Amino acid sequence: MITETINNYGYSGIKQILFSADDIKKKIKEAGMKISRDYAGKPLLLISILKGSFVFLSDLCRAVEIPCEVGFMAASSYYNGTVSSGNVKITLDLDRDISKYHVVIAEDIIDTGRTLASICELLRKRDPLSLSVYTLLDKPSRREVDFSADVSLFTVPDLFVVGYGLDCGEKFRNLPYIAEAEL
Ligand code: IMP
Ligand code: MG
Repeated sequence: MITETINNYGYSGIKQILFSADDIKKKIKEAGMKISRDYAGKPLLLISILKGSFVFLSDLCRAVEIPCEVGFMAASSYYNGTVSSGNVKITLDLDRDISKYHVVIAEDIIDTGRTLASICELLRKRDPLSLSVYTLLDKPSRREVDFSADVSLFTVPDLFVVGYGLDCGEKFRNLPYIAEAEL
């Protein structure tokens, strides 16, 4: 736990900061370097799964030091605040053919694994040159389907977390750090 005073930016409901803006920046720098090495000279498409990963992708793409393109998809699996419905619906799809790209998905958090398992199944059918998953956060204790990311920046216990793109009832996305929410 970070003991410095929490700047909650006017929100109530923040219990503790788990990862500071600096912690996140360091991990993203490493992830960006890895992507730059692994995909040098290759056509690269970074995909953000909205809305939760819009902050992650915007920092990650600026840590990538090779040419890349970005794309956006949205899926909804959480219909009632914090309770997963188990169904994954694609609510926004990519605007292009991915068969000529190496695709890297940037996701905010893998919880049950259902969202990414179904997105990856869908994208594999479209025959990308390769497909890999970078997740900012991983909650392995909550997994309901067999799914793991290629790269996970932080592992979190079974807590509901917010900030840096992640929300609780659409709030807290603009916090620059990742915190445990008071439910
Ligand atoms: P999954 O399909 O259960 O893996 O859920 C993935 C999605 O649920 C994530 O992309 C988030 O949008 C949301 N989610 C899961 N856990 C949390 C959390 O602790 N805080 C905020 N959103 C979460
Ligand atoms: Mg999400």
